Amino acid sequence: MAESFRVEKAPMPADGHAVRILVNGTPVAVFRVGGQLYAIDARCTHVGGPLDQGAMNGTEVTCPWHGSVFDVRDGKAVKGPATKGAAPYRVRVDGEALVLER
Ligand code: FES
Repeated sequence: MAESFRVEKAPMPADGHAVRILVNGTPVAVFRVGGQLYAIDARCTHVGGPLDQGAMNGTEVTCPWHGSVFDVRDGKAVKGPATKGAAPYRVRVDGEALVLER
C-alpha cells in the first residue's frame, strides 16, 4: 500500500533546480523540470552524495561527488559509479504543502 507524506510550507524549487526536504526523517530531493515536479531520495546510492546539489541537464541530475547520473523522473541510475536507482516519490502541490507518495 502506498505511503503518503505531507510537508507543510515546503520550499519550491525554481525550474531546473532542486530543494532538499525531510520526509519522515529521510532527505528527499525535489526537482522542477519544465514546470513539472519530481522527487527522489536525495542520497546518491553510490556513497550518499547530495543529489539536490547536483548539476541538472534536462531530467538528469549528476551527483556532485563522483559523477553518477540519475533520471529524476524515476530515480533510475543512468551512469555510474552508482548502479542502483534512487527511490522515487510521486509529488504534488497542495496549497502550501508538498504531498509525496511512494
Ligand atoms: S556519492 Fe554519488 S557518485 Fe559517488
